[in-house]
Amino acid sequence: MAEPLKPEIRIFSDIKTLSTAAAESVSKKIDKSLDEKDIFSMALSGGETPRLLYRYLGTKYRDRVDWQRVHIFWGDERFVPFNDPESNYRTAEKEFLSRVSIPSENIHPVDIHAKDSEAAAGLYEDLLRGFFPRQQIGKSPSFDLVLLGLGEDGHTASLFPDSDALQEKDRWAVAVKAPPVHKTRDRITLTLEAINSSRDVFFLVAGSSKKDVVARILKKPGAYSRKIPASMVRPQNVLTWFLDRDAALGL
Ligand code: 6PG
Repeated sequence: MAEPLKPEIRIFSDIKTLSTAAAESVSKKIDKSLDEKDIFSMALSGGETPRLLYRYLGTKYRDRVDWQRVHIFWGDERFVPFNDPESNYRTAEKEFLSRVSIPSENIHPVDIHAKDSEAAAGLYEDLLRGFFPRQQIGKSPSFDLVLLGLGEDGHTASLFPDSDALQEKDRWAVAVKAPPVHKTRDRITLTLEAINSSRDVFFLVAGSSKKDVVARILKKPGAYSRKIPASMVRPQNVLTWFLDRDAALGL
């Protein structure tokens, strides 16, 4: 594992102020990056926590970012149709992408029309390898920013505790089976290799149900465990945690 970098921890009173701050940080990061290079690549998180962030990016920030030069990917996707409430694409499209002037060719969803999740993961891998040849750090893609959430069990993206996907060193995207507790078990996820070759990572975490796992991760920043996949996230540059007060209760 790479040397642990000291994560930046930002705590907010509620999901609204957390999402406002996250939207401002995303917008600033895009602007700064586009001063130095042509395009900005961002992988979106799934789940419910980022919904308000996406809505703010699609409304308050719709005219404040040069979306024409932003490319959107997903950190993970459930293998369901785009109109399924479980679809991560659906949330981002409804709240954010349908509202900003981003060319359709800049939006890179997982191909959920593939014959199965394994095939979809292979196609996503090909898509990433086609997009990132110019930006590779070592042999992996290098997203400018990856947005991640955190499950109570310590999963992030669809990297679940003790999953074989955690030791995947060559693939950038793999198919996984989420634990039975999850409604949609067939998923495609970026591997740690792909996430950790990114420049920056923002974790967005809210709610007291996450307080114990947040404490386990952030009280020992250098420690990591396959039992808590989120603890293994080590981007190349900046790791920032956006927490609401409830999620930070254990700190
Ligand atoms: C997914 C997400 C997953 C999510 C966490 C937290 O597709 O489910 O990528 O990693 O971020 O499960 O989900 P909530 O934000 O809904 O609590």
